[in-house]
Amino acid sequence: MSLPYTQEMLDSIKKVEAGRAARVNGPEPVRMTADQKTALLEAFHPDYNLDSFEEIKIGPNAGQKAPKELVEILQANSRIKDMDIDLSNPDYDVDVLVIGGGGAGASAAIEANEGGANVMIVTKLRIGDANTMMAEGGIQAADKENDSPAQHYLDVMGGGHFKNVPELVHKLVTDGPSAVNWLDKLGVLFDKDENGVMVTTHGGGTSRKRMHAAADYSGAEIMRVLRDEVINRGIPVVDFTAAIELIKDNEGKAAGAVLMNMETKEILVAKAKCVIIATGGAGRMHYQGFPTSNHYGATADGLVLAYRAGASLLYQDTLQYHPTGVAFPAQIYGALVTEKVRSMGAMFVNVDGEVFMHPLETRDVAASGIIRECKERGKGVPTPVSEGIWLDTPMIDMIHGKGTLEKRLPGMLRMYMRYGIDMREVPIVIYPTLHYQNGGIKISANGMSDVENLFVAGEAVGGIHGRNRLMGNSLLDIIVFGRNAGQQASKKCKEVTVGELTLSHVDAFSKEMADAGIVTDVVSPKLLPEYRPEGVTRLN
Ligand code: FUM
Repeated sequence: MSLPYTQEMLDSIKKVEAGRAARVNGPEPVRMTADQKTALLEAFHPDYNLDSFEEIKIGPNAGQKAPKELVEILQANSRIKDMDIDLSNPDYDVDVLVIGGGGAGASAAIEANEGGANVMIVTKLRIGDANTMMAEGGIQAADKENDSPAQHYLDVMGGGHFKNVPELVHKLVTDGPSAVNWLDKLGVLFDKDENGVMVTTHGGGTSRKRMHAAADYSGAEIMRVLRDEVINRGIPVVDFTAAIELIKDNEGKAAGAVLMNMETKEILVAKAKCVIIATGGAGRMHYQGFPTSNHYGATADGLVLAYRAGASLLYQDTLQYHPTGVAFPAQIYGALVTEKVRSMGAMFVNVDGEVFMHPLETRDVAASGIIRECKERGKGVPTPVSEGIWLDTPMIDMIHGKGTLEKRLPGMLRMYMRYGIDMREVPIVIYPTLHYQNGGIKISANGMSDVENLFVAGEAVGGIHGRNRLMGNSLLDIIVFGRNAGQQASKKCKEVTVGELTLSHVDAFSKEMADAGIVTDVVSPKLLPEYRPEGVTRLN
């Protein structure tokens, strides 16, 4: 297969190649000052694009802003509107109901099972169809001699602009080493040196090398092991079944969920003493029209369910745009190019062959720098799809030796090879892609939301990462807070007596909508994205 780059791109590559040896052998690019970063973010980060946000009119976060697309589904009609649902004879009756089959949900279920609870997972797709599976670069944990949870804490807080909830960060970093150890013992095949010591690298914004990886398919490897553990323990998984509304009891405590079979649309009722939301992120909402690195089911469902049930959100107005989404070729537009590519030394280079920023600034800063380079400075690399910036991947083998890229980034290499691009020989074009929901449902350190007996774990949580997450802290948080939610729920359910089941909060929410003058055809949770062109009802 021939290289699919245009002549203009090939001409630009000559300039990239001309400066490569100097980049490999020269000093690192300078880091930005705090003031420079702030100015850059305010001018170019999509979170500051105020036209794309709207005020939430009702519910616990009324008066605050959120992306328009999120406001639309938060203030939408329930899928059970006008349905007569019989709550008196539940289809399932369990101690702990886990909603979501990704890394956080699986970790929660494993620990709830370990704690003796009768736990069940429901998931709208299949267990493992989740952002966890698609995570590439690694998982942070301060388990090396030159590192400490305190050092990790400072990095997380700095990366999050000191907006993070301190007790959540404390839990994240102090439980980090035991989380990685737990995964190691369960059988995750982390990269290790010849002495069996974990290989660790830097990520953007880290002051120590604490990124543990399984090549560049770290999430898939972790999910493989978690899924095996769920199956081995005999934890029931009800797949292709979405939670479409939470159920409460007459004391206002979470007490289960209304479920919908995704194929038959059959409605089922699950009663539970505790519920754990682990529904993941929101990339498929395509905020501000961005492409996404997220899996097909990432539609912010958990936020909708929890919000309608009265749980507060935190930082719902902040999203992460991963600096290095694929910008070319079109077939993989928006897919993730792991930050590990930059951890291994690849630099950002513009159309004129110039390095314009340090490759390991935090993600919000790096994404903004790329947007500025393209939109303001006119130094983007034009491609047949759109424009982007070179990521100079041939630097990796020059720095670490021939064969390194193939060994450490096999997934990336294979992904590009399918389209005739050998990233060992030529640079690749990247542009920011919607990657992560920094905000989400507010929890306390025990994992519980504002609603009694409603726990939350993973990407659906807001506050751990403040207003910007560092690489590798998501795989860590799904394990730490997933396990925590499972442990806490299995303890809590021992003292819970569920009262009479009710869906009155759903009616109350729709009354609040009517009182606020909100009239809409939108129904939520969204469950799956809609990619059909307008007017097309069926794709042949
Ligand atoms: O770049 C990456 O590999 C992504 C990692 C993360 O979001 O933590």
